[in-house]
Amino acid sequence: MDKKALQAMSYGMYLLTTVSEEGKKYGCILNTATQVTSEPVKICFHLNKENETTKQLLQSKNFALSVLSTKVHPNVISIFGFQSSKDVDKFQEIAFEMVDGLPVIQEKMSAWMIGNILETVDMGSHISFFAEIKKGERQTDFDAMTYDYYHQVIQGKAPKKAPTYVEEPVEENTYVCDVCGYRVQGEISDDFVCPICGMPRSHFKKQN
Ligand SMILES: Cc1cc2nc3c(=O)[nH]c(=O)nc-3n(C[C@H](O)[C@H](O)[C@H](O)COP(=O)(O)O)c2cc1C
Repeated sequence: MDKKALQAMSYGMYLLTTVSEEGKKYGCILNTATQVTSEPVKICFHLNKENETTKQLLQSKNFALSVLSTKVHPNVISIFGFQSSKDVDKFQEIAFEMVDGLPVIQEKMSAWMIGNILETVDMGSHISFFAEIKKGERQTDFDAMTYDYYHQVIQGKAPKKAPTYVEEPVEENTYVCDVCGYRVQGEISDDFVCPICGMPRSHFKKQN
C-alpha cells in the first residue's frame, strides 16, 4: 500500500471535550470528524483507545466539539494534542465557558457544537464514535483550519495516536522535537522553544 495515497485525503481540525461525573474535564485534538446526516444532524469521529478523553467519553457519552480556526494559537494544539489529561489540567490556562455542563473552548474557534454518543465501533487501535448533535453555533468568522493548513502553514506534525500518523524520513542535520515531531534544519540556539508544543531546546534531538 502506498500510504502517500492516504495523504491526499482532506480533514479539518477539531477539539473535543468531555467531563466526568466528578467534574474532571478532558479534551483532545482530532482531525477525523465528519458529518454523517443532516436531519437529524449526526457526525462521526475516531479516537485512539489510549487517549484519556476516549476512555472518559465512553462513560460520559456527552461532548462539546470545537472547529479550530486558522487564528487559534498553536499553544492550544500543543496542550490538547500533545499532552495527556492524565498528567495535566489542560483547562487551566485556556478560556472556556460551560454550556449544558460541557466546556466549550473560547480560543478563536470557528464554531462549537454539543452532542451525545449514539453508537461506537471498535476499530482496533481506535474507536469510531457516531453521535447526534443537539446544538451548535458559529463563534467567529475566522476560516476553519484544515489539516493541510496545520501541516503547510503552522508546520505541525501529527502524533502517533492520530489515525492519520505517517512516519517520515528525517533529513540530515535536522533537529526533531521528541514531543511533537517539529523539525528544524541546521543549528538551534540554547533558548530555542518549540513553536508547536512549547518544549525547550533539551527536547530537540539531532538526527544523523
Ligand atoms: C494534528 C493532530 C491530529 C490528531 N488527530 C487525532 C485523532 O483524529 N484521533 C485521536 O485519537 N487522536 C488524535 N490526535 C492525538 C490526541 O489529540 C493526543 O493523543 C492527545 O494528547 C490525547 O489527550 P488525552 O490523553 O488527554 O485524551 C491528534 C493530535 C494532533 C496534534
